[in-house]
Amino acid sequence: MKSRNEKWDTLHGILENIWLMLEHGATHSDDPFHWPILGTALKAACSLRTVILRQVNKPDRILVCHTDARSAKVHEIKNNSQTSWLFYHPEKKVQLRVTGHTTLHTHDSFADRQWADTSSTSRLNYCASQPPGTPIDKPSSGLPDFLLKKIPTLLETEMGRKHFMAIVLHIYSIDWLILKLAGNRRARFDWDEDGLRATWLVP
Ligand SMILES: Cc1cc2nc3c(=O)[nH]c(=O)nc-3n(C[C@H](O)[C@H](O)[C@H](O)COP(=O)(O)O)c2cc1C
Repeated sequence: MKSRNEKWDTLHGILENIWLMLEHGATHSDDPFHWPILGTALKAACSLRTVILRQVNKPDRILVCHTDARSAKVHEIKNNSQTSWLFYHPEKKVQLRVTGHTTLHTHDSFADRQWADTSSTSRLNYCASQPPGTPIDKPSSGLPDFLLKKIPTLLETEMGRKHFMAIVLHIYSIDWLILKLAGNRRARFDWDEDGLRATWLVP
């Protein structure tokens, strides 16, 4: 039988576990990996914000989140498509820093599929008439009144489609760290045209 920590003893075991944790995070809203921090950089400034991990595709090495196409992060990604996604699991004490090239999808079949799988309550996030971050005189969700009175139907939230965007991270690097009383461990996984390079690092 495998010992409890054997999965951390090989680079292969760690990478397999990383994918399992990411896949679990994408499908379970009570998992800390459901809420990564997305980091963007524009000129000398960096910006961080929480997002929801919507999808993980291991064979294609991609992560997906959704956003309003009018938000500041989209402007930043258009200017610098390299982004980093930070994950931390407090119980497992595992941190992932996932980096890659980012693509933006609004009016293509990828975005259509993501939109089709999005619930009406999530679609509300794209139904504000003014762009996210617009200064306003008093506190407001920015949503039209008719969408706030009851749980909206999919049809009622269709107005959000034009603002809906899928952000896709094409991973080329994962920096993994685990904190352990017996000694922290760190490893790095890099992909390029020659394939995967994996190495242990001093934590
Ligand atoms: C728990 C949580 C989850 C969030 N998920 C998303 C998300 O999936 N997509 C998104 O665009 N913003 C999400 N937000 C809001 C962002 O953190 C951020 O405030 C907003 O997108 C504006 O960021 P920007 O001005 O950098 O574009 C979330 C916020 C919280 C607190």
